[in-house]
Amino acid sequence: MKDLVFSGIQPTSDLHLGNYLGALKQWVAIQHDHPCLFCIVDLHAITVAQDPKMLRQNILGVAATYLAAGIDPKRSHIYVQSEVPQHAELAWILGTITKLGELERMTQFKDKSGKQGERVGLGLFSYPVLMAADILLYGSTAVPVGQDQMQHLELARVIARRFNERFGDTFAIPQALIQKIGNRIMSLQDPAKKMSKSDPMEGAKILLRDDAETIRKKIMRAVTDSGKGISYDPEKKPAVSNLMTLYHHASGKTMKEIEKEFAGAGYGDFKKAVADAVIGMLGPMQKRMLEFRKNPAELKRILDAGRDAATEQAEKMMRTVRTRVGLGRE
Ligand code: AMP
Ligand code: TRP
Repeated sequence: MKDLVFSGIQPTSDLHLGNYLGALKQWVAIQHDHPCLFCIVDLHAITVAQDPKMLRQNILGVAATYLAAGIDPKRSHIYVQSEVPQHAELAWILGTITKLGELERMTQFKDKSGKQGERVGLGLFSYPVLMAADILLYGSTAVPVGQDQMQHLELARVIARRFNERFGDTFAIPQALIQKIGNRIMSLQDPAKKMSKSDPMEGAKILLRDDAETIRKKIMRAVTDSGKGISYDPEKKPAVSNLMTLYHHASGKTMKEIEKEFAGAGYGDFKKAVADAVIGMLGPMQKRMLEFRKNPAELKRILDAGRDAATEQAEKMMRTVRTRVGLGRE
């Protein structure tokens, strides 16, 4: 049987190269062989305070980015999470069978709640339950994400199994799809930290909309490791290995080929090549992004159609769920 694919990205700000290589690039490849739903998860975004006007802009920006990256709306459904209220409904139900201890163990929660103590929002805490609802609502079996989402996916599997045991077989057990190389793109300024939307450090991340000059500057200024040589060793040479990962994806060359190409070369020459390759990879995407942003009617048509298709599938599942749980009336 064909896997049903589901994934999503939060419209919290502009997307970066980590989002593209860890998630989006996989989506583009998988859509040719599987039915896919790609969601813009705005309900997740508001677990951290957002400016309402910016949020609406970012929703359209992320939609345009999905399309520009190569998601084909004729094959895949693209839609906005909050426009299909069944996500929130299922999240509530799943929350009743999720344990506090399970949510307390989530490292993303620990990172994001930081020093807020008792003031941390309930939404941030139950974020993984909403994510489980996103996936289970469609019976999705394959979820292409970056490595940082593995723990959330494990929890989604636990919740699905628990529901099935308690109420009868209802949900498929989903699996994460993780890119072999590039599932965790690191900050260009600190290879011990992942590239992240919220990193305030200028130069830590490459945005998908950065112009050629900005990309070049950020890559030329990226930190490197002590010692010479271009070799792939994420443990001992995390910074160079991270740049090699970018080059691998942008050029299609294997790590062995890259090591050969730069045998005896200095970091400067290597970085120049990485910058050229990344600029070459993002350029065409940026052009398409502008075209979609200039055509709001087309974007609207695609998001409306995605919402309608998703709603139909989601409502079918929710009818089963409500019956199994005993909610409402016949
Ligand atoms: P987010 O920005 O948290 O909504 O993440 C959207 C998708 O991008 C998820 O699948 C993440 O796992 C993935 N992602 C985010 N940051 C990185 C990164 N630095 N490297 C690889 N994948 C990432
Ligand atoms: N939590 C994911 C992230 O921050 C985004 C997300 C929400 C997601 N729901 C999802 C990803 C369902 C995959 C499947 O990256």
